[in-house]
Amino acid sequence: MRMEADSYHTYSEEETRSIGKRFAEKLSAGDIITLAGDLGAGKTEFVRGVCAYFLVHDIVSSPTFTIMNQYIGTNPEGAEIALYHIDLYRIQDEKELLEIGFSECMSDENVIKFVEWPEKAGTGMPETDWKVTIKTFPDQEEERQIHIEYLGKNR
Ligand SMILES: Nc1ncnc2c1ncn2[C@@H]1O[C@H](COP(=O)(O)OP(=O)(O)OP(=O)(O)O)[C@@H](O)[C@H]1O
Ligand SMILES: [Mg+2]
Repeated sequence: MRMEADSYHTYSEEETRSIGKRFAEKLSAGDIITLAGDLGAGKTEFVRGVCAYFLVHDIVSSPTFTIMNQYIGTNPEGAEIALYHIDLYRIQDEKELLEIGFSECMSDENVIKFVEWPEKAGTGMPETDWKVTIKTFPDQEEERQIHIEYLGKNR
């Protein structure tokens, strides 16, 4: 694993999970994190690392579980923390965002929110606190570059 300022190279899914686990330390309730990167880049693996940090013990699948999952975990102080993991890949139009209650989820200040494929939400995507970009390399099947940007509290 090689580390740059806020950029990492990983060489396995386990390493990507451990970057997610380390990143989780910086999060506070209410944060919105977008995840950019191709299909299979490792966005979900990264979120699994975050879940490991929060000792997620419960996954609450909604009726739209392919789009949205809720995870219940514990923060280091021992308090319960909820995370939403939303994958907008299959969203076709803003009407579907209404159906899944996207904007209500995004405005929940008690929950940490991860959004894969945020561009699918168009103008329905609120200000983001963190942007994680995972890059793949055509000739290196297991190498990834993970870039983490803090965009600040704009709300
Ligand atoms: N360094 C790496 N980091 C993360 N995943 C890796 C790495 N090397 C190989 N992989 C593989 O890449 C895949 C990543 O899958 P994952 O579901 O996390 O992608 P995703 O970005 O969430 O894709 P999607 O947009 O389809 O949801 C897994 O099959 C994993 O084993
Ligand atoms: Mg995914």
